[in-house]
Amino acid sequence: MEKQSVNRVVLIGTGAVGCSYAYSCINQGVAEELVLIDVNEKRAEGEAMDLNHGIPFAPSPVNVWSGTYADCDKADLVVITAGVAQKPGETRLDLLAKNAAIFKDIIRSVMDSGFDGIFLIATNPVDILTYVTWKESGLPAERVIGSGTTLDSARFRYLLGQYFHVDPRNVHAAIIGEHGDTELPVWSRTNIGLDSIDSLLARNKDYNQKDLDEIFVNVRDAAYHVIERKGATYYGIGMSLVRITNAILRNENSILPVSVYLDGHYGHSDVFIGAPAIINRSGIREVMEIELNRVEKDQFDHSVKMLRETMTSIV
Ligand code: 2OP
Repeated sequence: MEKQSVNRVVLIGTGAVGCSYAYSCINQGVAEELVLIDVNEKRAEGEAMDLNHGIPFAPSPVNVWSGTYADCDKADLVVITAGVAQKPGETRLDLLAKNAAIFKDIIRSVMDSGFDGIFLIATNPVDILTYVTWKESGLPAERVIGSGTTLDSARFRYLLGQYFHVDPRNVHAAIIGEHGDTELPVWSRTNIGLDSIDSLLARNKDYNQKDLDEIFVNVRDAAYHVIERKGATYYGIGMSLVRITNAILRNENSILPVSVYLDGHYGHSDVFIGAPAIINRSGIREVMEIELNRVEKDQFDHSVKMLRETMTSIV
């Protein structure tokens, strides 16, 4: 019988973010093969052992092992979470120089294996490191994806769900722009179920724009708040990465606000930034150019400008 092709995901970086991703992947039965790579080989080995001990309880069979870059040759998806993490008080952009150097080595090693799949990047500053991955790999931009503002949008939907007392899955809202301090909420396109925010606020005096503005500030600063308390964030980003992985491997054509390459979209080019995109088995099927109001467009332009200025120091 002919061997059926299996979905192979290679995870590079088995720190807290990588392991939250791996754990969540196994629990959702996303891939048939999950390979773990880390500079600390013993750590990757231990994580693979520990995860394998849970396989009897997983929804579907999955083969997990600690591997090497040679395993990337047959990978459908390479997910990178490796790098130095944010310390209390440090911005995501402070990490740039350290992580850009680490990334160049990683991407070279992955490409040397003959890899021809899709990259999914989570390491911060994610928009710039996604750009670095695209440049170093030489792959088409639609096969290089950053987690972007997927996590920020999940935080946003969660908090709006709490505020309006509705299931966050019925909150249709997104944060776009840099995954960082210049990100912005797209209020003009926000819906609770089929209701727009504007009509909801007009009808119900319990709700007001001031509260909504506070919700956005909490979303924007969420990572700082979590890092102050527990030193790092990892579950939210782990689950966000699995959501994107599902969109790719299951060919879902899902719309998610990931970090994508702008090629004239929103009047910008040669930059990766969080914007809604349709994602399927080929990667980014389409970057969606949604209509922004004047304030949102100005904020988005500012975010692009800021990323671009920071990027000039390394690329
Ligand atoms: C987060 O937003 C630190 O980027 C990470 O949780």
